[in-house]
Amino acid sequence: VSALKFSEWVSSHQTRVEHLLDEYLPSNKIAPLSLHEAMRYATLNGGKRIRALLAFAAAEFAGQESRFVDKVAIAVELIHAYSLVHDDMPCMDDDDLRRGKPSCHKKYDESTALLVGDALQSLAFEILTNAQEPAQKKQLEITHQLAIASGSRGMAGGQQIDLESSGKSLNESELEMMHMHKTGALIRASVIMGGLASGIEHSSHLKALTGYANFIGLAFQVTDDILDAEADTQTLGKTAGKDALQQKSTYVTLLGLNRAKQKAKDLYEQAIHEIQQVDANRSKRLVEIADWITQRGF
Ligand code: IPE
Ligand code: IPE
Ligand code: MG
Ligand code: MG
Ligand code: MG
Repeated sequence: VSALKFSEWVSSHQTRVEHLLDEYLPSNKIAPLSLHEAMRYATLNGGKRIRALLAFAAAEFAGQESRFVDKVAIAVELIHAYSLVHDDMPCMDDDDLRRGKPSCHKKYDESTALLVGDALQSLAFEILTNAQEPAQKKQLEITHQLAIASGSRGMAGGQQIDLESSGKSLNESELEMMHMHKTGALIRASVIMGGLASGIEHSSHLKALTGYANFIGLAFQVTDDILDAEADTQTLGKTAGKDALQQKSTYVTLLGLNRAKQKAKDLYEQAIHEIQQVDANRSKRLVEIADWITQRGF
């Protein structure tokens, strides 16, 4: 594990992700120009890139260097960017602001935003399935993980539950189920795919990564719920107070702010316990990211 300070590790990997995304996204000089421009708008500049960083950190935990991790990191960020474009559309959360800028459908129009999401999703799978890769079994396993995490048994399914539960109050197990799908699934996949990309060998390591990924995936959305209630629009770069406005069921409505914060803290402890007991040294970055996820201000 590198000796870099966490903040330096984060910024160097964020820069790497920006360059890779820039390289893999079609140029806005290629037709259809407006679609490619909008795809770049929705993806470049502004995301925290936590999912990509989780893939890199999981690869460090797994222990072997592998260039395929770059592709995993890009693929999960493309799926995530697509999910945000659709999440903001008027038929979903109807949000005009994303990453401090007009949402994709505001900057362009709704039909373009719809196609941006479709095309970003396809691009993620295109990148992962290039036939030039040497280890095709690994590639297949990784692609399979991303497909499940994105679809009706993952993110898209969670979004459906989210929309249907607006105006209702879910109990804790229903809410956990919703969060584990809409946000947890892709975060979990980012960790596992990073591990798989770097040839995770011992099943105890994969088990630990999976445990960590489950807890931190839920912790991520619990924290997002807290921030929606507590932070301001300027800091968040997206409209604050949206959940209350749209009568969403969240950990804040279920538990109140203080207990929601305690819940995030408990999930953090559970997450890091899973990996630290297996390898205290190699789990360093994953622990730091878990801390960031639950302590972040936006
Ligand atoms: C926001 O995700 C959407 C959720 C799944 C809660 P992030 O907070 O990771 O958004 P960016 O990528 O940094 O903008
Ligand atoms: C988003 O949940 C989950 C996604 C799959 C995008 P939210 O609707 O709470 O995300 P934000 O708060 O708009 O980023
Ligand atoms: Mg939403
Ligand atoms: Mg939203
Ligand atoms: Mg939110």
